[in-house]
Amino acid sequence: MALRFTDDLFARVCEQYAATGKVPETSYELEDGRLIPDYQVPFYVDASQLRDLEKVVLARHARGTVLDVGCGPGRVSSWLAPTVDATIGVDKSWRMCELAMRKGLPIYRADVAEALPRVRPQTVLLFGNGFGMPGDPQALKQVFGALHTMTAPGALIIGESNDPTLNPLEQKYDANNVSRGDPVGLRRWRFRVGERVDHWHAWMQYKPEHLDELANQTGWRTKEVLYEKDSIFNAYFAVLERQ
Ligand SMILES: C[S@@+](CC[C@H](N)C(=O)[O-])C[C@H]1O[C@@H](n2cnc3c(N)ncnc32)[C@H](O)[C@@H]1O
Repeated sequence: MALRFTDDLFARVCEQYAATGKVPETSYELEDGRLIPDYQVPFYVDASQLRDLEKVVLARHARGTVLDVGCGPGRVSSWLAPTVDATIGVDKSWRMCELAMRKGLPIYRADVAEALPRVRPQTVLLFGNGFGMPGDPQALKQVFGALHTMTAPGALIIGESNDPTLNPLEQKYDANNVSRGDPVGLRRWRFRVGERVDHWHAWMQYKPEHLDELANQTGWRTKEVLYEKDSIFNAYFAVLERQ
């Protein structure tokens, strides 16, 4: 099959779903050729599809002004908006920003590696495996540092990752990482829909101890870790508190 590069493919399939209800089969292709399934497109678009653990962690911890980093089409912000003071979304994709704004959400277009809006949130969200979004551990440390400067003590980061140490297939992949000097948990993948592929990019999966190490180095402390029962991704949510 001849592959066709399509920029911002994930956002395009979200747009297509929002406009037509069509749900194409999506996956992530790892550089070793493996295709990893992901939640399907409606999960990322419809607030009604939040998982039970997402609701639990949000209800328990989200408060005040909430900065939703990498907000996508805004499913989490729109679920949360009635219960908090304000939500502010940030995404680097203008297509995603438009989808979220159509839900009436205040959104900034920004790449988290370059800029964050001048706000002072009490809660920061990194949902949708968002701890991995900045790329590698050094990049996440920079984001933690930037979030530290814009928050007060007691502010929380609530985010999600997949524990890479619990899955035998991932352990094999990570053995390769270690042999070439990359950290355990680094994934190089591209988003794929049939013959359409986006660009290769790095996304980290953290075990909670690794996340805790980076948090401690940047003025944050792990407050709670909640694993999702029966998750095929070994997903968990970590809540970090600003010191
Ligand atoms: C897997 S989706 C998750 C969306 C949302 N957090 C959720 O849980 O439904 C990742 C989102 O992060 C955005 N993103 C990726 N890298 C980013 C960056 N460097 N800065 C801002 N947004 C980014 C993508 O455009 C996409 O909308």
